[in-house]
Amino acid sequence: MRVLGLETSCDETGVAIYDSESGLLAHTIYTQTDIHAKWGGVVPELASRDHVRKIIPLIEEVLVAAKLTGKDIDGVAFTKGPGLVGALLVGAMLGRTLAFAWNVPAIGVHHLEGHLLAPFLEEQAPQFPFLALLVSGGHTELVNVAGIGDYQVIGDTLDDAAGEAFDKTAKLLGLGYPGGAALARLAEQGNPERFHFPRPMVDRPGLDFSFSGLKTFALHTVEAHGLDEQTKADIARAFQDAAVATLVIKCKRALDATKQKTLVVAGGVGANKALREALKIMCDKRGVSLYFPRQEFCTDNGAMIAYVGCQRLLRGEHDDLSVNVCARWPLETC
Ligand code: KG4
Ligand code: ZN
Repeated sequence: MRVLGLETSCDETGVAIYDSESGLLAHTIYTQTDIHAKWGGVVPELASRDHVRKIIPLIEEVLVAAKLTGKDIDGVAFTKGPGLVGALLVGAMLGRTLAFAWNVPAIGVHHLEGHLLAPFLEEQAPQFPFLALLVSGGHTELVNVAGIGDYQVIGDTLDDAAGEAFDKTAKLLGLGYPGGAALARLAEQGNPERFHFPRPMVDRPGLDFSFSGLKTFALHTVEAHGLDEQTKADIARAFQDAAVATLVIKCKRALDATKQKTLVVAGGVGANKALREALKIMCDKRGVSLYFPRQEFCTDNGAMIAYVGCQRLLRGEHDDLSVNVCARWPLETC
């Protein structure tokens, strides 16, 4: 079965074609970062309008790359939520319409299920069951995954998501938006000994996270020490060390609680090198297998939506003819 996948939940337009026999046939991604950067964050209306402009040329591009036409597509998957409602509607409306025109089923996919299952796009794919750490701009969750559609959220953030904390701290350091990757690059030049940020919530039992205090700690450090180039790098380093240490401690706790032997890390912050290295060391020590999607499939992309859509359609699931999106949608109910 060949499925066209469309991702338009936020500020990336992702399009891909996944084949159940031969895997990923083509994928492309257009990022709107330049449009939103000057506003310091994503402007929902600008995001929707740009998805409208880009999505059809991108679909044409992947069909050409895969040497296929609409006649070769057996189903259309689109991100149904959670996300920005106007942006989601662009993908949902077009996905539903193409499926109708091609007389094939359409399926609305949960964005976080896309992230969770993105490691299955790789040759070395994990096996169910596993524990997943989902760390993106909007979510920080620990999920017990028994199989497709069988998800139990066992840890969540009480305030900012991990990516949001990276972005807000990066903005404070003048690194632009979204600044997570830029902060990570700057942290490489930082002195790890100069500042020590607290590790939030690690002294309390449980698997929940809290990241907003780190951003405030960064603000106070800037106020006390200024923002010369080395201080910026030192703050970036201290922030990243604290965020990574917290994520690793909670993963360790969740592995103990669930007795899972496989850990999957997904979402934009999963692209962070320091996090990948620290998790690798922790998992190696415990004999736990660790899986990440390649970096471009950590952040938002169409391939993960095409993959989940294909799995769901193979199980006989699909949406009806109406166009529905969900700005908020608990993962456990998808
Ligand atoms: O999964 P994603 O593309 O979008 C959401 O669904 O939110 O994640 C984007 C987030 C942003 O906050 C971005 O700053 C962060 O992932 N990010 C990183 C890195 N690359 C992207 N954070 C830390 N280190 C990175 N290398
Ligand atoms: Zn995402």
